Amino acid sequence: MRALEWRNRKVRFIDQTKLPLEEYFIETDDEVVVAHAIKSLAIRGAPLIGIAAAYGFVLALNKLSENETPKRSSHIEKTHNLFASTRPTAVNLFWALNRMKHIALRALNEPLATFKITVLAEAKAIHAEDEEMCRTIGAWGAEALPNAATILTHCNTGSLATGGAGTAQSVIATLWEQHKLKHVYIDETRPLLQGARLTAWELKNLGIPATLITDNTAAFLMQLGLINAIVVGADRIAANGDTANKVGTYSLAVLALHHAIPMYIAAPTSTIDFEITSGKEIPIEQRSGTEVTSILGKQIAPHGVEVYSPAFDVTPNELISGIITEQGVLRKPYREAIASLKISSSKGRE
Ligand code: MRU
Repeated sequence: MRALEWRNRKVRFIDQTKLPLEEYFIETDDEVVVAHAIKSLAIRGAPLIGIAAAYGFVLALNKLSENETPKRSSHIEKTHNLFASTRPTAVNLFWALNRMKHIALRALNEPLATFKITVLAEAKAIHAEDEEMCRTIGAWGAEALPNAATILTHCNTGSLATGGAGTAQSVIATLWEQHKLKHVYIDETRPLLQGARLTAWELKNLGIPATLITDNTAAFLMQLGLINAIVVGADRIAANGDTANKVGTYSLAVLALHHAIPMYIAAPTSTIDFEITSGKEIPIEQRSGTEVTSILGKQIAPHGVEVYSPAFDVTPNELISGIITEQGVLRKPYREAIASLKISSSKGRE
């Protein structure tokens, strides 16, 4: 299943806030609808946010007409700002936006039809590259993980979060195809339940044996010896390997150390922020307290209670056993491993 696609000059996506109870698709030619969907988590997951913003860019520029050539650069800037203000943590968003802006500015004086074709081709390339990266991440990860793997995962990292089979979930699916997977345990992932609602739904559809647990069951599972690897995704990886991912990932890494369980991050290189030296510089999104005080619209905490709800936390690099990318599995020291990655200049990083 494709969580998002370009179809008939429109963006078509599944509204992830309604899953798994309803499979509801939205089709739009309005970039504001796409930006709102990212903000509300109808479209979510670091790589998919980047892909959505890239197509959103196309929708915005498609609105330009022939006599508006002088307006193109201000329109590009405005669109960049619209999407850059949706969610702050996943760097894939800014990576994709920079690529789109770079290519659009380069084609600024082209005839309108060529300008639009160029911009759409870049968005499609971002999508196709992500699909391919998912495949390769799966292959590298399956090689690195133990046989008869019993994996604990957190949040959602599958086709709902990427342009392909996923990141951590692609590793899981590849292990399953290779008959090397015994079982998956899924953290429910409070407060928005991406594990319970999305990962459980995806693994069920794939026929992969999985058990849903509450987040606070993870330690006990490890103590019982039921987990031999943890694999999660990432929203932003600093140049030293410190990794921001869904809140709760850091506690899994601390638990993994205590129980001598390998802790893997699976992410494409578009999730690496080469500009920041450590996790301290990663902006952490704060979510509304109502996401904690209510579940599926039902109030569960006293009205007016104070809430602290960061969407992500940062796992220090020393707690990470390996970072599975499309270029292979990075090992410590991460600063050197990350610096040696091949990043093509066409990726338009500014
Ligand atoms: O708030 P979300 O649901 O967008 O958070 C998603 C995650 O934290 C994922 O683990 C991460 O984006 C990796 S997805 C391949």
